[in-house]
Amino acid sequence: MQIIHTISELRQTVTSFRQAGKIIGFVPTMGNLHQGHLQLVEMALSQADIVICSIFVNPLQFGEGEDFEQYPRTLQEDADKLQQAGCDIIFAPAVAEMYPDLELDGQAQSQVQSQVIVPGISNILEGAARPGHFTGVATVVAKLFNMVQPDKAVFGAKDYQQLQVIKQFVSDLCFPIEIIAHPIVRESNGLALSSRNGYLSEVQKQQASAIYQTLQDLSKQIIAGAQNYEELEQQAVAHLNAQGFVTDYISIRAADLSAATASHKHLVVLAASYLGTTRLLDNIEIEL
Ligand code: PAF
Repeated sequence: MQIIHTISELRQTVTSFRQAGKIIGFVPTMGNLHQGHLQLVEMALSQADIVICSIFVNPLQFGEGEDFEQYPRTLQEDADKLQQAGCDIIFAPAVAEMYPDLELDGQAQSQVQSQVIVPGISNILEGAARPGHFTGVATVVAKLFNMVQPDKAVFGAKDYQQLQVIKQFVSDLCFPIEIIAHPIVRESNGLALSSRNGYLSEVQKQQASAIYQTLQDLSKQIIAGAQNYEELEQQAVAHLNAQGFVTDYISIRAADLSAATASHKHLVVLAASYLGTTRLLDNIEIEL
């Protein structure tokens, strides 16, 4: 496995694989890899000849006061895991390689010239709570796509809204890349795997499984025919908050994240809830 830090070396390497007719699979990450990431790599390996995994903690997608500085950087451990998983190349650029004009002591987004904005969908749910977050995500993913030039890219379904934003700009801007969603990987108690789970104590990790249980209960009610979506959302929020969470939203939506109506057959229920200071996300998709 090769570890590459510069765009020029990455381009050279990718060009030689392309010339050899290889299908390139890509897994973008911010590192601190867990089993969920390794399953994305596994899926990419099953569909491509060469798998490239990027590790880059992207300052553009963190707002003021968020955990950009604290976000765990564990390149050596990540490299060991990726080598074991069969990954071919790690692309781990420095911030200066990705954003040459950025100074990290200021507001990152105001210093970057060209950005990928996906209006509408970027401003609801996670985007309402974290203004600018999805512009930061879409911009870095578009840059990485241009650097790696993959045929396929794999993303986890835990970040459901992120996946929709990426699918939207890939379609709108005609990137010739197949976007593949990997189902959420969970702990045995149902907690969705996330690098941010590392911020939770052991007791909190047990408590946190209540989010998935709440989403499951809610989805069972919908499958059984309940259509009073607003009431269901409010009850679910109250249920979680009674267990010590501070819930930002539980939202029943159509698959494209527009408002859910009785005529929608593919729904998604999304949750964002704080346990202590950790914001946890989860979702369940429902086919009626
Ligand atoms: O999901 C993530 O880890 C990040 O948002 C991504 C897609 C790697 C962009 O920085």
